[in-house]
Amino acid sequence: MTHKGHGAGSPARERERWATRMGLILAMAGNAIGLGNFLRFPVQCAQNGGGVFLIPYFTALILMGIPLMWVEWAMGRYGGQFGHSTTPGMFHRLWANPIAKYLGALGIFIPFCVTVYYLYIESWTLAYSFFSMSGSYFGISEFGEMSAFLSGFQGKMSNHYFPSIAPAYFFFLVTLAVNIWILLGGVSRGIERLANIALPLIYLFGIILLIRVITLGAPDPLHPEQNAASGFAFMWRPDYSRLSDVKVWLAATGQIFFTLSLGFGAIQTYASYLSKKDDLVAGGLTTACMNEVAEVGLGGSIAIPATVAFFGLAQTAQIASGGSFDLGFFAMPMVFQRLPFGQAFGTFWFLLLFLAGITSSVGLLQPLMAFLQEELKFTRRQAAWVVGLALFFFAQPVILFLKYGFLNEMDFWIGTLGPVSLAAIEVILFMWIFGSRRAWQEIHRGAHFTVPRIFIPVVKYVTPAFLVVLLFIWFSQEGLRVLSMEGVPAENQPYIWFARFLILGILFGVVALIYLASRRGSYSPHHSTRH
Ligand code: ALA
Repeated sequence: MTHKGHGAGSPARERERWATRMGLILAMAGNAIGLGNFLRFPVQCAQNGGGVFLIPYFTALILMGIPLMWVEWAMGRYGGQFGHSTTPGMFHRLWANPIAKYLGALGIFIPFCVTVYYLYIESWTLAYSFFSMSGSYFGISEFGEMSAFLSGFQGKMSNHYFPSIAPAYFFFLVTLAVNIWILLGGVSRGIERLANIALPLIYLFGIILLIRVITLGAPDPLHPEQNAASGFAFMWRPDYSRLSDVKVWLAATGQIFFTLSLGFGAIQTYASYLSKKDDLVAGGLTTACMNEVAEVGLGGSIAIPATVAFFGLAQTAQIASGGSFDLGFFAMPMVFQRLPFGQAFGTFWFLLLFLAGITSSVGLLQPLMAFLQEELKFTRRQAAWVVGLALFFFAQPVILFLKYGFLNEMDFWIGTLGPVSLAAIEVILFMWIFGSRRAWQEIHRGAHFTVPRIFIPVVKYVTPAFLVVLLFIWFSQEGLRVLSMEGVPAENQPYIWFARFLILGILFGVVALIYLASRRGSYSPHHSTRH
């Protein structure tokens, strides 16, 4: 199926497609499976009641994750048939109102902004793969020293491990270049090929590490009570008292969005490359299942149990309370130093993180790439240059002002609040304005089995109501506190303001680009007919 050029005077351009069904599923799973599965999930679980976290987590998966996955696939494929791979065009097709395309700005802005800081974290995993392979951190036996190693690397302080930020900068540039190189290959020859190689490796490394954790026994003879089993017990022992805590429910829902890349705009873009005949009911479900196997099965079974086996419950709880980076970048390197062939296991762990990260980051960058190519008529090469330079430019404050909380501020507004907001908008557009009957048809086009009918009232009423309530609670509990910079040291506050202006600036930039595309006829009524 070819797609004729759209917009005055544009050359006819072949619409990109996934080469194989397997490649599509792996790419979608790669988009979802990311740092969130291996670093964010275990910490969220440990901080929010252990095993009991899985109750709100799976409730959110069933009531929101899987239905929204179908909605995003269907919306993406629908937009793709009109030649639109990004949410401004998709929303415009769902709702013939001039405002619709501007609401769609979120589906370009959110994934791009997330990548501005996600890419930097991804580059740490690449760097630590090398540090593991070369044994750079082997011999550092204190947690404080391991933390100094990371802080030195990140440029938070200059120390004897890293006198300057140059190595971190180097790995950032390499990571950026690899991402852009993949995007230059396009959908099937870049993203899909990467997924075909990376996904099997992610599972392979994950299974090797899992087996290593299960067979750890009690590694410290002085503490026979510390073993992998106590690690699993710590991870999964349910603390039922936490079930009534609204924060636990919020955390579980936030994790579902983040881990499945829902409400980012990225799944829709990948889905726009589907054909009419593709079974998206099965595809969406398979993607969600592959993500859950990686998240609960592997992500939940490696870092925390290994840390408990070596360092005990109290210290692990303390590490988990420090967040994902402490677990991934202090605790795990300490574990590897105590294992025979630790350098090899360390390399597997950080390469696994890097591969999981890059298959997500290219997915998060593809919406902007596609927008520039389709709506502004850039060539793929030009689009890749623009995306690369924009990332380079906007990542500078993230890198240089890390110690002032710049990255965390961006993550709160974009990584946490952003997806829930976009999801609320898209589900209202799809189920209410486009209409649940047509939505149902779109979801089932090419499907081999039917979604239970209960899906309609759930997605039409429960999902949007839940999302709006969630946004309200989040904003009243966290948003106001964050907005007023409660507890933020005075010296950090100018940087936090800067982060906010940067976020707003990027949002206005995206809106301006949509305006430009609109002026050029991308969203005119005659623009590209349905294929
Ligand atoms: N879904 C991606 C992750 O889990 C963003 O990291």
